[in-house]
Amino acid sequence: MKVLVVGGGGREHALVWRLQGSPSVKEVFCAPGNAGIAADARCVATKADDLGGLVALAKSQRVDLVVVGPEAPLVAGLADRLSAAGVPVFGCSAAAAELEGSKAFSKAFMARHQIPTAAFGVFTRIDEVDRFVDGASERRWVVKADGLAAGKGVTLCADRAEAKREARRMLEGALGSAGARVVIEEFLVGREASLMSLANGEQVVALAPAEDHKTIFDGDRGPMTGGMGVVSPTPVMNSDAIEHATRDVLQKTVDGMRADGRPFRGLLYAGLMLTADGPKVLEFNCRFGDPETQALMMRWESDLALELLAIANGKLPTTICFSSDAAVCVTMAAPGYPGTPALGQPIEGLKRVAKMQDVKVFHAGTRQQGDRLVTAGGRVLGVTARGATVEKARALAYAAVTEIHFEGAQFRRDIGARP
Ligand code: AMP
Ligand code: GLY
Repeated sequence: MKVLVVGGGGREHALVWRLQGSPSVKEVFCAPGNAGIAADARCVATKADDLGGLVALAKSQRVDLVVVGPEAPLVAGLADRLSAAGVPVFGCSAAAAELEGSKAFSKAFMARHQIPTAAFGVFTRIDEVDRFVDGASERRWVVKADGLAAGKGVTLCADRAEAKREARRMLEGALGSAGARVVIEEFLVGREASLMSLANGEQVVALAPAEDHKTIFDGDRGPMTGGMGVVSPTPVMNSDAIEHATRDVLQKTVDGMRADGRPFRGLLYAGLMLTADGPKVLEFNCRFGDPETQALMMRWESDLALELLAIANGKLPTTICFSSDAAVCVTMAAPGYPGTPALGQPIEGLKRVAKMQDVKVFHAGTRQQGDRLVTAGGRVLGVTARGATVEKARALAYAAVTEIHFEGAQFRRDIGARP
């Protein structure tokens, strides 16, 4: 097979790398990719938001499968356009992608189909927010921008005043049109897990669960980011918990989307809070998680390309197999992230790390500048390692992180450290 991966972050680097190991694959190339992906595969300059350009590229290159990484092109209808052009695509339709593209849509969907999630309200006016927050017994709230905000549209609020302030900030345009509507929801307490799955429109198969670390600082402190590191598997989801969530969340979601005339075919990601009352959905994503995918690809043993092609053709793969090894991915981010990152810093030490066994550095925001590699995004690298246990994978990932330097690098020291 000839496979085109769309996107240019750490997730896409991991997908390209793993697809290259698929026995059924002859060539993988990437649009637009990044400096790290370019070291492993051919990159084409077509951007992920150039839908017409991507369809033309897939046709002219006669690709057997397109794998779409990011959510924005799915929300914009890339999969619909590729399908219409007769190109097999792993990625859901625009109608299905609304599950991620609008939090107001996804909350209403869950309420309609009795899928467990936090109690909530949806608002476009601040006076309505004030009335809702003041009228409820709840003190702590979570305020979320309705639209896509690169993982930064969520604020955990300690009291009513903060919730009202935060909703006002979003409604007044701090996040652009993404915040024109806000969701305000009940603060849930528990451990989190990311459960990704492949869905063919009717059925679903769960992948290995992972645990993301969303805040910038150790001990889950500081502002939300796109993801500072991942461990897979996670001790919080045993096979019973996976079965439970597959039945009560994933399959119910696929059934509901089908009943609503928006069949979900592609990757369905449930961000879960495991509460005393069972798993509750924090969010849905309509694509592979980032950085969950970096860890998962280290553990994926079966033929990924064939499995994604099966989904593209509406079939459910039965071959998926994960290594019993654990994987840990540590994000190295630029100084200033998740605010405005400082860019253009030279990155050192990658050659030494390339020689380490069971370690792979996936590039998120890097750029080649002459003969130097420099930082070019908030999240720069996903340093990923595998090992027989979480402890071993974790030790190896941090041994690699220690070898890598760029000015002001930020990374958490506690990825995968929670019992
Ligand atoms: P989301 O993008 O909606 O998954 O939210 C990002 C992060 O905010 C989640 O991974 C949680 O850590 C936190 N979060 C979101 N919703 C809630 C909630 N209702 N209660 C507590 N924490 C939440
Ligand atoms: N790691 C969370 C996400 O991909 O949205």
